[in-house]
Amino acid sequence: MVQEDLFKKIIAHCKEYGFIFQSSELYDGLSAVYDYGQNGAELKNNIKEYWWKAMTQMNEEVVGIDSAIFMHPTVWKASGHVDAFNDPLIDNKDSKKRYRADVLIEEYVEKITDKIKKEVEKARKRFGDQFDEQQFIETNQRVIDYRQKQKDIMAVFVAAMEAGDLERVRQLIVDLEIACPVSGSRNWTEVRQFNLMFDTKLGSVTEGANTIYLRPETAQGIFVNYLNVQKTGRMKLPFGIAQIGKAFRNEIVARQFIFRMREFEQMEMQYFVKPGDEMKWFETWKERRMKWHLALGINPQKYRWHAHDKLAHYANAAFDIEFEFPFGFKELEGIHSRTDFDLSQHEEFSGKKIRYFDNESGESFVPYVVETSIGLDRTFLTILSACYNEEKVGDDTRVVLNIPAPLAPVKVAVLPLVKKDGLPELAREILDELKFDMNCQYEEKDSIGKRYRRQDAIGTPFCITVDHQSVEDRTVTLRHRDSMEQERVPMDKIAQLVKTKVDMKTLLSKLV
Ligand code: GAP
Repeated sequence: MVQEDLFKKIIAHCKEYGFIFQSSELYDGLSAVYDYGQNGAELKNNIKEYWWKAMTQMNEEVVGIDSAIFMHPTVWKASGHVDAFNDPLIDNKDSKKRYRADVLIEEYVEKITDKIKKEVEKARKRFGDQFDEQQFIETNQRVIDYRQKQKDIMAVFVAAMEAGDLERVRQLIVDLEIACPVSGSRNWTEVRQFNLMFDTKLGSVTEGANTIYLRPETAQGIFVNYLNVQKTGRMKLPFGIAQIGKAFRNEIVARQFIFRMREFEQMEMQYFVKPGDEMKWFETWKERRMKWHLALGINPQKYRWHAHDKLAHYANAAFDIEFEFPFGFKELEGIHSRTDFDLSQHEEFSGKKIRYFDNESGESFVPYVVETSIGLDRTFLTILSACYNEEKVGDDTRVVLNIPAPLAPVKVAVLPLVKKDGLPELAREILDELKFDMNCQYEEKDSIGKRYRRQDAIGTPFCITVDHQSVEDRTVTLRHRDSMEQERVPMDKIAQLVKTKVDMKTLLSKLV
């Protein structure tokens, strides 16, 4: 399927089956803000549970907290967000459309990657089985020139951004002859920095009220609680603090569905280590996080590492895990070595000591931090992109979400074949036993075939059909979503059979 079509289908599917709705749709919607429906909320909660348990339950030295969205405004001054959490923006004077200057340049560089791919594919056809892709990339003059051009562009861009030279960024856009996708013109304004934080007022009287921010990352709630957790939990280095929560960014280029939202959720973990140990732990967490993704059973080719060209103001090393969404490889998770930047800044701005006393060496120091930061909504989109499938079944096509069973919104659908002869009562008996352990659905409307299709479309791994034979011998049909195989199973064996497959343990056990 063409990837663009796939993306459109996923968006439509999310709405049709109660996964995601546009926020305030009744009033024509609010851009880049979304609501999760009945199935979306379940899937989202299951992803959270997988992450939370993988972090806290599976690592003795990692604990979880839940800090407030509103924080003292000085937190954001100390963290650098007030002064440096900006996007460089440029407007096209003809279309009046606003763009992120960095995105325009990155998309230009991405187009060169497409040209390289075309050269590779042409050569692959020409050389057949003899083709050595790596050798071709390293020796073909056209590809060498393309790659050099990419490097040169990024070098100019990174240097200009680091020097705060926005005129140079604009000149780069002009030199590359980048045109506005809407008007097609190259009539650009100057580049300006735009702070991404939303602000609001705390207090009832506007004049006396303080400006406070909606947090743009959950991490600062962890940093300001470092001492509280370390002392009350008597934590020894290295240890981690994990958190799941809402974050807010006034994204200007808010596109691609739930990929870039103005209100979203992050799952972040700060791992506090001795200075000098940070690179060792950085590598360990890179490995652990990739393992977490691969345990989902999604094609490993869809993930790749990307080293940051331009490090954030707080980092001394940073890698992204990118995922191949229907619109290309994009950032899913960041793993950052944040040095002692944040804790030192909070020491300075609060005037309070934020130290760790090492009993062994008798030294006291500000710990270094390795951070793992993943978007919950982007993980949701990853799963939908990888698990949405259309399959031919006879003359029919079925849409199925092959979601890993422990994450599926509904684990089991219990379906009486007909609405009489004691079948609904028997179906309810099964449901009443299973519902303590998992989310189940009871459905008696429409033909059994239609009901199977509806459950496939929301990713239900198991359907249990109760028929007339069930009343006689207390056996039922267990239907498996992925293979569509059906087996006859005694009713008293169902719970055990299904539980082992849908338990979060099946994912978590792959992490050890
Ligand atoms: N504490 C570090 C931090 O916030 P980030 O790279 O800005 O780093 C981390 O964000 C993750 O949060 C990203 O990898 C992405 O998955 C998610 N994220 C960031 N901005 C987002 C947005 N506007 N919409 C949805 N997810 C977003």
